[in-house]
Amino acid sequence: MQEELLLTPGPTPIARRTYQAMSQGIFGHRTQRFKDLSASIQDRLKPVFGTDQDVVILTATGTSTLEAAMVNLVAPGDDIVIIVSGVFGEKFKIIAERYNYKVHIYDVEWGEAADPEAFKTFLSKLDSVQAVFTQACETSTSVLHPLKELGQVVQEYDQYTLFIVDAVSALGGADIHMERDGIDCLVTGSQKALMLPPGLGFVGINDKALDKINQGPETRYYLDLRMYLASLEEDYTPQTPAVTLYQGLDDVLDIIHEEGLENVYKRHIKMQKMLRAGLRALDLKPLVDDDAASPTVTAVSSNEEEIALIKDSLAQDYGISIAGGQKILAGKIVRIGHMGFMFPKDMLTILSALEAILSQSRQKDYYGKAIAAAQGAVK
Ligand SMILES: Cc1ncc(COP(=O)(O)O)c(C=O)c1O
Repeated sequence: MQEELLLTPGPTPIARRTYQAMSQGIFGHRTQRFKDLSASIQDRLKPVFGTDQDVVILTATGTSTLEAAMVNLVAPGDDIVIIVSGVFGEKFKIIAERYNYKVHIYDVEWGEAADPEAFKTFLSKLDSVQAVFTQACETSTSVLHPLKELGQVVQEYDQYTLFIVDAVSALGGADIHMERDGIDCLVTGSQKALMLPPGLGFVGINDKALDKINQGPETRYYLDLRMYLASLEEDYTPQTPAVTLYQGLDDVLDIIHEEGLENVYKRHIKMQKMLRAGLRALDLKPLVDDDAASPTVTAVSSNEEEIALIKDSLAQDYGISIAGGQKILAGKIVRIGHMGFMFPKDMLTILSALEAILSQSRQKDYYGKAIAAAQGAVK
């Protein structure tokens, strides 16, 4: 029996100490104990978002936060722009199509990052856009979009237009900061770089977004952020929260701040560099160019047969789980997650397994090559 090494881009491994924190036992949420926990969580969560404002925590998965951002920040009839560069951009589009918005899609080739200059030209041709939506990391391709530059384009277009970012597969791994990057609403989920099981969604908002929320339509209930913000003023939640996950969150925030946010970002970049160098030494091509590569996940291309072989052999022979491609990238890529409770040693483990798998299947000697390249990339 071997323990599985979970290198998927979510869910991600959970620290033993976090499991222990989550097994302290359940307790009531209308208690001083919960209020203390909630207040202490907010203090340490805000710096992760790069905001001074309370961050709404929903007991729901990441998708709920994408929908919450829409139904609270966009009114029926509003013009909105969605940057679509993969499966999760499409998800934003699908959600928007269920509501009565005027949706403008800015399509980006899958595997590429949005180009701020080209986006500026696109946006300048549209009137009265109320909000621009994008992913931070498009998990299906492993691209990291240039948020700060895109935020600037939105701000220059109109100071009242909101910039809304889905950082489900990035926050807590990539250096993202609401204030610095001009992000008005930043959303994420618990099961990726935040090192928790699935089940919590997070919505960070600034004053500009808050104004819009307060003028928003009444067609929302569970996702009405006003309700959560009002409860947060007293360190409560309007509904029964996932108390156990709050206990885990309390612990992961300690882990993050013990390491230090800057060091967390550095560790993610180190893993990314090691992995990309190692994969190239195995004659595998990362889907995304270096300058647009996410520090949290890496997609790598090969032919369909080899993609299946890599994924299956890693799982069966080495107990390592990775993800395949989605939609048009199915059978064309595999995706290796390197976010949250993952470390450089995990990159060495998967690379050495890949050395063996590819040495056998290609009848070529890769032994030691990927490891040397990975170590060389960060020495
Ligand atoms: C970028 C991005 N957005 C949204 C989601 C959806 O999150 P969930 O599956 O938690 O609802 C995911 C999940 O992988 C994601 O990677």
